[in-house]
Amino acid sequence: MKIVLAYSGGLDTSIAIQWLKDKYKAEIIAYTSNVGQTDDPVKLEKKAIKTGASRFYFEDLRKKFAEDYIMPSLKAGAVYQDKYPLATALSRPLITEGMVKVAIKEKADALAHGCTGKGNDQVRFELSTRYLAPEIRVIAPLREWEFKSREEEMDYAKKYNIPVPVTRAKPYSIDWNLWGISVECGILEDPWNEPPEDAYQITSSPDKAPAAPQYITISFNKGIPVALDGKKVSSLDLVEKLTFLGGKHGIGRIDMVEDRLVGIKSREIYEAPAAVILHAAHNELEKLVFSRDMYEFKKIISQRYSQLVYFGQWFSHIKNCLDSFVDKSQEFVTGEVRVKLHRGNCSVVGRKSPYSLYSETLATYTDKDMFDHKASDGFLEIFGLPSKLEGARERKKKI
Ligand code: ARG
Repeated sequence: MKIVLAYSGGLDTSIAIQWLKDKYKAEIIAYTSNVGQTDDPVKLEKKAIKTGASRFYFEDLRKKFAEDYIMPSLKAGAVYQDKYPLATALSRPLITEGMVKVAIKEKADALAHGCTGKGNDQVRFELSTRYLAPEIRVIAPLREWEFKSREEEMDYAKKYNIPVPVTRAKPYSIDWNLWGISVECGILEDPWNEPPEDAYQITSSPDKAPAAPQYITISFNKGIPVALDGKKVSSLDLVEKLTFLGGKHGIGRIDMVEDRLVGIKSREIYEAPAAVILHAAHNELEKLVFSRDMYEFKKIISQRYSQLVYFGQWFSHIKNCLDSFVDKSQEFVTGEVRVKLHRGNCSVVGRKSPYSLYSETLATYTDKDMFDHKASDGFLEIFGLPSKLEGARERKKKI
């Protein structure tokens, strides 16, 4: 048997190599991709081979992540439960796609991942595999093996000469990629506890952020941000730049209790400066160019879209159909948005578009006003009719 393992180099996936070899009498191919975290592939390869993998694959998926996953989700306005921009959730189908390709090339029988049985990530890996290559089996060692604690895992590692981390257990479980960082466990498990400063990896505390605000201008073309302060920029570079800029100004910290697919609530901290800035800017531009109907209907699409991504249904017919709607909706989402970054706040302070539906002569209170106030007489007569009828009925009831 041949298994392609999603490998991070941490304790779980390191012992998973040995465990899978024993349990399934399998050859293990370790797979790591760069989705924006900073792993050193040379070190990882050494470690994977030393720990028993027969081969090691490393792929840089950052550009694909930015263009084919992050940008569509931005256009869709995909933010789970109004807060989480879905960094971890978006990376899983991408990583699975990469692993499936390797599995097919290597004629492997199965994929394996280091997700636990109560998270969302197992769902994302397994639904994506079923969609892309149903003949490939998925094995989840953490749902199968006998270890109940980190200590037991360490004992197993020592027994097989697997190098164990020398540092003490990290206080948090962290998942890191281009679009954001997810932090859970430790002191964060009590939702009453304020996240300590060390829970945040890339944003400075708003208290310590620069006292002077910084203004930036983001240009959008059909819903995609294409320039920063007038300079053309690739999706990948833009996300990296805004992560740095926003992080410096303490922007993008999210503290939330969320509903996992498996039914439990979990408390999670996110850091997603680029996502927070881009979603805010994109949303404001949509407000300028969308009709009221479009704006309100798109909100429903955004909510459903975010659920699909969160629930691991990135690869699905319904998601493809929503993408078609979203793409069509973006044809007028072109223009510029001015954003002020200041001490944890990201506020949109200006917006303009050649397709704006805003009309100053209709909105103004000056003598340039072109709005026909008289027309409201008839409008209110008709629009107010149901209120009149309902009010009359209410008074009848009281008698
Ligand atoms: N709760 C988030 C999600 O389901 C993030 C999970 C990330 N994992 C972690 N080890 N922090 O997408």
